Amino acid sequence: MPLPQSFLDELIFRSDIVEIVSRYVSLKRSGSGYVGLCPFHNEKTPSFHVSADKQFYHCFGCGEGGNVISFIMKEENLPFVEAVRFLADLAGMTMPEEDGGADKARQHRDRLLHLNREAARFYHEQLMSEEGRGALQYLLDRGLSRKTITSFGLGYAHPDWDRLTKAMLEKGYTKYELEDAWLAKKNRSGGLYDAFRDRVMFPIIDIRGNVIAFGGRITHGDGPKYLNSGDTPVFSKSRNLFAMNFAKKTKGKRLILAEGYMDVIALHQAGFDCAVASLGTALTPDQCRLMGRYAEEVVISYDSDAAGQRAAQRAIDLLNSAGLQVKVLKIPGAKDPDEYIKSNGREAFALLLDNPQSDSEYRLAVIKAKYDLDVDAQKIQYLKEAAEYIATVASPVEREIVSHMVAQETGIASTVMAAEVKRAFTARSRREKKKSDAAALQPVRAVQPKEQGLRYKNPRSAVCEEKLLAIVLEDRALLERAEELLTPEDFSSDFLGNIYRKALDAARTGDVSVAALMAGLEENEARHLTGVLSGRVVSQDERRELEDYIRVIKEEKARSSMDGDRRLLEILNQKRERKG
Ligand code: CTP
Ligand code: MN
Repeated sequence: MPLPQSFLDELIFRSDIVEIVSRYVSLKRSGSGYVGLCPFHNEKTPSFHVSADKQFYHCFGCGEGGNVISFIMKEENLPFVEAVRFLADLAGMTMPEEDGGADKARQHRDRLLHLNREAARFYHEQLMSEEGRGALQYLLDRGLSRKTITSFGLGYAHPDWDRLTKAMLEKGYTKYELEDAWLAKKNRSGGLYDAFRDRVMFPIIDIRGNVIAFGGRITHGDGPKYLNSGDTPVFSKSRNLFAMNFAKKTKGKRLILAEGYMDVIALHQAGFDCAVASLGTALTPDQCRLMGRYAEEVVISYDSDAAGQRAAQRAIDLLNSAGLQVKVLKIPGAKDPDEYIKSNGREAFALLLDNPQSDSEYRLAVIKAKYDLDVDAQKIQYLKEAAEYIATVASPVEREIVSHMVAQETGIASTVMAAEVKRAFTARSRREKKKSDAAALQPVRAVQPKEQGLRYKNPRSAVCEEKLLAIVLEDRALLERAEELLTPEDFSSDFLGNIYRKALDAARTGDVSVAALMAGLEENEARHLTGVLSGRVVSQDERRELEDYIRVIKEEKARSSMDGDRRLLEILNQKRERKG
């Protein structure tokens, strides 16, 4: 059951966004609003804007935006209702008597978290018991100390079909809870059996210290090497990182991103307390953002096999887009950091870590691996491809350095390499200019929202609809003027038309608050809207501008219904021809 709109309106009214954001971000006055360093991506110059009038935030760097509720959702990593509760506490408001829905969901999540914790304890006790001897020996043989085993809360799931299930039912958890926590599965006759059996267990703990899921490794026999919990009401694979609960406390600004549980644990045991891993899946943007909250630099330390290197390549781009500096570690002569540390010791790894390749060194190494530099023809190919790559590097100094490096390693003159890079650079700029000229001739392409699911059917109209909204949401009189000329149905975009309708409704009953309008929007919609409203350039004659937009919107509307008519006519004609 959703929270009543009147409550949300009141909450938003009482929670000043500037005050709330200031708890997390140091804001400076700028124009009619405030700016600061964006908490959602790493940046050196502030592009995070908070509007006191409109009570929303928008980052020009990463595109995040929304109202005070979405800010808390992101910043505190809370679901909607929890964020509302968080703000209500601050504002001294009591949550409306929920008819159970949201409250039940929260209670259910609490129960699952308790269940997970009990399960972790149970698995750990099993590991330390007589029956867990083999599993414990396995971990010790892999070089883990007892202290490490305890601090990571490692455990053992017995081979029995329902060891855990029985124990947890006895403690009062329900079958439904066990299944929903991904700890048990239903068999054909409806009975439950343990999801993890005969595996060494790795609890996954979130940054607040909750046990949210498990990974389990076999120590002998057949089956997938690792089994991981699926997503549950308390666990989203794509938003969490293994060991982030420890790594978030690291002193430095650097995180090590490894591929597996064992790598991370070995790294921590060796004193690298900043190691994390994604959870058996490719790295996601959410995970990058999570890292961005605690670090400035990520050192990728994936397996040295081809798959690991491909994954590293993808991770570089994702991490860069989250504003993180990236370095890629090459692990000589070992499969992964775990094995490297085991055979070479922690000092050796520390050395590797302090001399990692930069992003461009890494990319060049990948290119170089394709060619045999002893063969002249191949060397030339390498130089060409390297130059193409160097031309994409944004910083001129970096281009210079890298190009010098390539010249040295291939034994050609620096000036020759520099000329080659320059040629690639010019060719590239020319291509890009062509592209941007083409885009300017067809401006409609550029306006499509970045957000998936928000495609504009009619970009020409949508641009005007966006600009019109930016005007009328700022000026009551102009909203009233628009109302005389334009209905929400005239909009080509349902999304924008809907906002217009809400604004008209709000105007009829009181004030139009952008922040309140946003309360009913999906996260991506709110983000897009703040972008639309923030991009506004104030013009001299807004009324005139408004009327121009309305004219185009109506033109497009007429044209699209004409298109429809024309299609109908064609169908009719075809039918007639067939008959005749
Ligand atoms: N993984 C998985 N399912 C598998 C294999 C791997 O989910 N069947 C995930 C696990 O998170 C694992 C990571 O991928 O930690 C890396 O896999 P791999 O390199 O095979 O494992 P290692 O960490 O080297 O494991 P170990 O050292 O225990 O063999
Ligand atoms: Mn390994």
